[in-house]
Amino acid sequence: MRRLEGRIALITGATSGIGRASARLFAAEGAEVVCVGRDEARGATVVQEIEEMHAGRARFIAADVTLAADIAKILEVVKTEYGRLDVLFNNAGVFVTRAIDEIDEAAWERVFRTNAKAAMDMTAAFLPLLQESKGVILNTASIGGLPYHIAGSKTYLYASSKAALIQFTKLCALNFAPDVRVNCLAPGITDTPIYTNRDFSRFSGIPMGRVADALEVARAALFLVSDEASYITGAVLPVDGGASLK
Ligand SMILES: NC(=O)c1ccc[n+]([C@@H]2O[C@H](COP(=O)([O-])OP(=O)(O)OC[C@H]3O[C@@H](n4cnc5c(N)ncnc54)[C@H](OP(=O)(O)O)[C@@H]3O)[C@@H](O)[C@H]2O)c1
Repeated sequence: MRRLEGRIALITGATSGIGRASARLFAAEGAEVVCVGRDEARGATVVQEIEEMHAGRARFIAADVTLAADIAKILEVVKTEYGRLDVLFNNAGVFVTRAIDEIDEAAWERVFRTNAKAAMDMTAAFLPLLQESKGVILNTASIGGLPYHIAGSKTYLYASSKAALIQFTKLCALNFAPDVRVNCLAPGITDTPIYTNRDFSRFSGIPMGRVADALEVARAALFLVSDEASYITGAVLPVDGGASLK
C-alpha cells in the first residue's frame, strides 16, 4: 500500500524546488496533488510530469498565496472538485537578504506576507476541511528560523519570518490536537532555483560536506505527512546535513 493512497494533498510553491519534488513524490505515493503557485507554465509542467512519470493525478491552481482573493479561489476549487483535504503543505517562500539600512516596506511586505502570513491564512482557510478529515499540516520553515542558529548575517527578514512560522506551527499543533497534526520542516541549504548564485562551494562548512537535493527534503516531508508520523505533532525537523549544529 502506498503511503498517501487516496489522500488529497495541497502543496503551495509546487512549481519549483522542494515543492515540485514533494508534489512528484506525494503523487508517486498515491496522493492526488493540488499544486499551487503563480507561474502557469511551470505549474503545467509539474502536472504533466506527475501524470506521465507516476501515472498520478494532479491539478494546478494558479494563485498568489499572499492574496486573500486567491486563497478564497483555492478553497473554492478544493471544495468543489474534491470536497475534502487531507494534507496542507505550506511550502511557498521567498529568500531575501538585505543590510539593515536596505530593508524597505516593500521587502518587509513581500517576505513576511509570503513566508509567514500566507501559511497562517491558508491554515485558517483550510482548517475546517482538515478537522473533518483528521488531516495534517506541514510548513516549510528554514534552519535560519531556528533559535539556536544564525544562517547568514543579512537574513533579518528571512530568518525572522521563518522563526514566526515555527512558533505558529507549534501553536497550531497545540490547539488543533488531537484532530490535526501540524509540523514544520527546517531545511538547510538545498539546491533549488531559490538561489540565483549557483556556486554552492561557498557553503563548504556543512558537516555532510554538500548541500541537499530537493528530493531529500521532500522525503522528510513525505514522512511527516504520512501515517508513519502519526504521533508526531509540533515538531521542527532540520533537514540540513548537520549545518545547524555549528
Ligand atoms: N532552498 C533552500 O536552501 C531552502 C532552505 C530553507 C528553506 N527553504 C524554504 O523552502 C521553501 C521552498 O523553497 P525552494 O528552495 O524550493 O525555492 P524555489 O525553487 O524558489 O520555490 C519557491 C516556490 O514558492 C512559490 N511562491 C513564492 N511566492 C509565492 C506566492 N506569493 N504565491 C504562490 N507561490 C509562491 C514559487 O512559485 P511561483 O514562482 O510559481 O509563484 C515556487 O514554487 C521556501 O519556503 C523556502 O524558504 C529553502
